[in-house]
Amino acid sequence: MLRRTVGAKARWREQEHSMATWQEKIAPGEEELFERLARTLVDGRKGEGRTLHRYSQVGLEGRFVVGSSVPASHAQGLFAKPGTYECYVRFSSGAGRAQSDRTPDVRGIAVKVVGVSGDKVIAPLAAAQTQDFLAILSNTFAIPDAETFVGIVRAAPGGPIQILRYLIGRLGFFSALRLAGALGKAQDKGKVSLAERTFFAPLPIRWGEHAAKLRFRPVDAPATPAAIPAGEHGLTEALRARVRSAPLTFAVEAQLFVDEQRTPIEDGAVEWLESVSPFVEVARLEISAQDPGSARGKLLQKTCEAMSFDPWHALVEHRPLGAIMRARNAAYRVSTMARNATSELEVVAPSSLAATLE
Ligand code: HEM
Repeated sequence: MLRRTVGAKARWREQEHSMATWQEKIAPGEEELFERLARTLVDGRKGEGRTLHRYSQVGLEGRFVVGSSVPASHAQGLFAKPGTYECYVRFSSGAGRAQSDRTPDVRGIAVKVVGVSGDKVIAPLAAAQTQDFLAILSNTFAIPDAETFVGIVRAAPGGPIQILRYLIGRLGFFSALRLAGALGKAQDKGKVSLAERTFFAPLPIRWGEHAAKLRFRPVDAPATPAAIPAGEHGLTEALRARVRSAPLTFAVEAQLFVDEQRTPIEDGAVEWLESVSPFVEVARLEISAQDPGSARGKLLQKTCEAMSFDPWHALVEHRPLGAIMRARNAAYRVSTMARNATSELEVVAPSSLAATLE
């Protein structure tokens, strides 16, 4: 059985894409560096489960609907023609250990669209039928490079002072302070339901011959924000209560690259302003009302926990772009291998899952 995680390194088709429009910078020897960083990251893993985003508020099933009104400029790859796909959705907190929703943290949404045929970026996954999208609550990614990211993750158990100390050593005093400020802002305090938040993929992917960033914007947020229950897992409870009571829909919106200065590929700290490149709806993520506490809900949760959500589970037309994205290629592979995640080739649509938990 071939796993994405075993020896299936990404060999994307063009080593360096140099359209007149966007361009990546591939450093000599970076592949070895990213492998080493991935191992450092995963070696620091404590206990069972994901190296990062260990705790999941909920795992759900949904539909990913590409409508018929996607403008020609945006109608690329998965979005080239109308279609309705089944998908899995996993909400999570970023830390490498399960912790209270009250602890400030990055929050994530991971979507696995199933039934997607076409050329895949990872050659050994040619037969996989999936396209994944991963997003967090920030529209920028302030960490300048993968080595600094891994250093921050390693310093994190020591708390903010330890992180600052590490950053000062690596970047110098003023850059460290600036980055620490940005990281602080990216930490969600857990006061607003995740059903009411916009999630961003803050680093670009290919969008056919273009490049784009994505976001997931809730379209049915209530006029009065949902109350977050007191207790350790208020965000979890609020989100589960929300999907139990009503469907939840996110508009999936793409923002196209314009030029290197205003919409850089390699510098995630620069916000792609909407005034420069507007977000355009390309699909809807529809999560039907469902009970996460039911037998089916538990099966979905278990299935999502075992699966690997990875931006490199992608069509060639949506290859992740930039050095940090390439570092993620190694990191997700090594992490999913360490936890023996479900092979991408074995993923089935939610409707094909066994009816109940074994
Ligand atoms: C744009 C920046 C990033 C975003 C939006 C992002 C988002 C996410 C999300 C949503 C998850 C949870 C996936 C799931 O539910 O299974 C995740 C997991 C993970 N991320 Fe990231 N991440 C980013 C950057 C990075 C970087 C730079 C690295 C390392 C170089 C990294 C390493 C990991 C690892 C190791 C996991 C756990 C993989 C697993 O075992 O399934 N991430 N990330």
